Amino acid sequence: MRVLKSATMLVLACLPAVSLAAGDPAAGQQKATQVCAACHGPDGNSPSNQFPILAGQYEDYLVYALQSYRNGQRKNPVMTGMAQPLTDQEVKDLAAFFASQKGLRIAR
Ligand code: HEC
Repeated sequence: MRVLKSATMLVLACLPAVSLAAGDPAAGQQKATQVCAACHGPDGNSPSNQFPILAGQYEDYLVYALQSYRNGQRKNPVMTGMAQPLTDQEVKDLAAFFASQKGLRIAR
């Protein structure tokens, strides 16, 4: 019984760390609506071929792309400016949001 109780405490103690590490799609949506929607569309289905579709893209890929703009590995005058002010958590949140959307023009 005592063991079970300490195991439960351990799991509870770890919960905040887990939720911090993962992307939060709701927070991502809020940020996306304010900043990204103008070009990528409200759900990541960009209205124009000029802007890549983010909806339904793999979450890992979105994180990788945003981090690459941030650290200068990938260069684009527009997206470097968009990605640089983002925190690690915002990158994860945005990736989680766009990955959870249905990509209208991506065959899956
Ligand atoms: C002013 C228009 C504009 C805004 C606003 C904008 N983007 Fe972009 N985004 C672009 C363009 C243009 C590209 C293609 C750049 C390139 O060729 O690397 C792009 C590319 C990307 C890519 C890479 C996609 C791929 O398939 O490799 C990601 C991820 C991305 N944007 C996320 C975001 C997020 C998240 C935001 C909001 C914080 C945002 N963008 C805001 C114009 C914009």
